[in-house]
Amino acid sequence: MIKHDDIERSLPLMVIMIVIALSWGGMAEIVPLFWHDDTTTPVEGLEPLSAVELEGRDIYIREGCHVCHTQMVRPFRAETERYGPYTVSGEHVYEHPFLWGSKRTGPDLARVGGRYSDEWHRAHMYNPRDVVPESIMPSYPWLFENKVDGRDTPNKMKALRMVGVPYTDEDIEGAKDAVDGTTEIEALVAYLQQLGTVVTKR
Ligand code: HEC
Repeated sequence: MIKHDDIERSLPLMVIMIVIALSWGGMAEIVPLFWHDDTTTPVEGLEPLSAVELEGRDIYIREGCHVCHTQMVRPFRAETERYGPYTVSGEHVYEHPFLWGSKRTGPDLARVGGRYSDEWHRAHMYNPRDVVPESIMPSYPWLFENKVDGRDTPNKMKALRMVGVPYTDEDIEGAKDAVDGTTEIEALVAYLQQLGTVVTKR
């Protein structure tokens, strides 16, 4: 019979027991979510991102926007009053990886789609201080010069389809043409303008 004392005195045994306890706890919390309808069913009206929005999302990741911005409105009064309806899992079933983020240097962006005009976003990205004088957000002037390369877009969509995002063959065939010629700022703004609208435009 192993006593608690024995475990505490033996590092290997302690490590093994910790691993067993954590795995069990993790499994009990995580595994049921794979079968839970709430977490696996898309909310009504959810569409995969268009080719241009998808490229915009990749620019969002490349520029590290998610390091300062969350995309998750928590179910608290203070948050729903400020940002809008709280986030539900079904909004994010097509997202790989999630961009929920963990730190808010800037405001949450989960419901920012449609809140400002495209022109506002462009001015803000070029130099945030032009529209929000006290802003500490960096400027992103290069987005206005760089063009998006559509060569990889079909493959990105195919990869997403493999993990369950319902892109059609037509979506994938048309992706390169849809993306080629757009500037990075156009793609990024297209991405921002759809954020959260599946819930707010209902
Ligand atoms: C260093 C942290 C930081 C980074 C990185 C950052 N932001 Fe911001 N962002 C802020 C802050 C602070 C604000 C609030 C002041 C303002 O509006 O400029 C803000 C505001 C915003 C707003 C307005 C939100 C609202 O509801 O008013 C948008 C949209 C936005 N950021 C998008 C982006 C995008 C897209 C990127 C990446 C290209 C990005 N941010 C990168 C800090 C950051």
